[in-house]
Amino acid sequence: MSEHELRVSKIRNGTVIDHVRAGQALNVLAILGIDGSDGEAVSVGMNVPSDRMGQKDIVKVEGRELSQDEVDVLSLIAPDATINIVRDYEVVEKHRLERPDEVVGVLSCPNRNCISTEDEPVDSKFAVLPDGVRCEYCDTIVRDDIAAHISVE
Ligand code: CTP
Ligand code: ZN
Repeated sequence: MSEHELRVSKIRNGTVIDHVRAGQALNVLAILGIDGSDGEAVSVGMNVPSDRMGQKDIVKVEGRELSQDEVDVLSLIAPDATINIVRDYEVVEKHRLERPDEVVGVLSCPNRNCISTEDEPVDSKFAVLPDGVRCEYCDTIVRDDIAAHISVE
């Protein structure tokens, strides 16, 4: 790649979340709890040309690796993403995301009458669909803006 094409600079140590669906980069930041207040260096590319996807988003977080919970939630909004662990400028690990069949206790149901959102000590439970998630208790389907229903720290 020529110097003229490099849109987001390389990182030294940290995580590159690549091949994120165009338009989802800000949701990736939300899932990771990144709002800039921690002082970590974060680069975001949006609508970057991609051979595989036409356009993609990309998020690079310096000095941070991801937890399994974060990776599970990411798989819902960025199913084609690649997680690259970078150490000393080299990609030392590359993982494709795997969509779980079910997510428990990660999202909250938008139905206020759902048993999982009442005072009962019931964890939310959603079946993962190709294009969204479905509450196992009340069958409410969330397709758009899944990130708005995330309840993990
Ligand atoms: N990257 C980075 N900083 C580094 C090394 C890599 O930001 N020090 C980024 C690259 O810019 C790229 C991603 O991490 O967006 C993956 O790097 P690499 O595996 O080298 O690229 P590709 O082979 O193109 O990856 P893939 O096959 O997954 O598309
Ligand atoms: Zn529900």
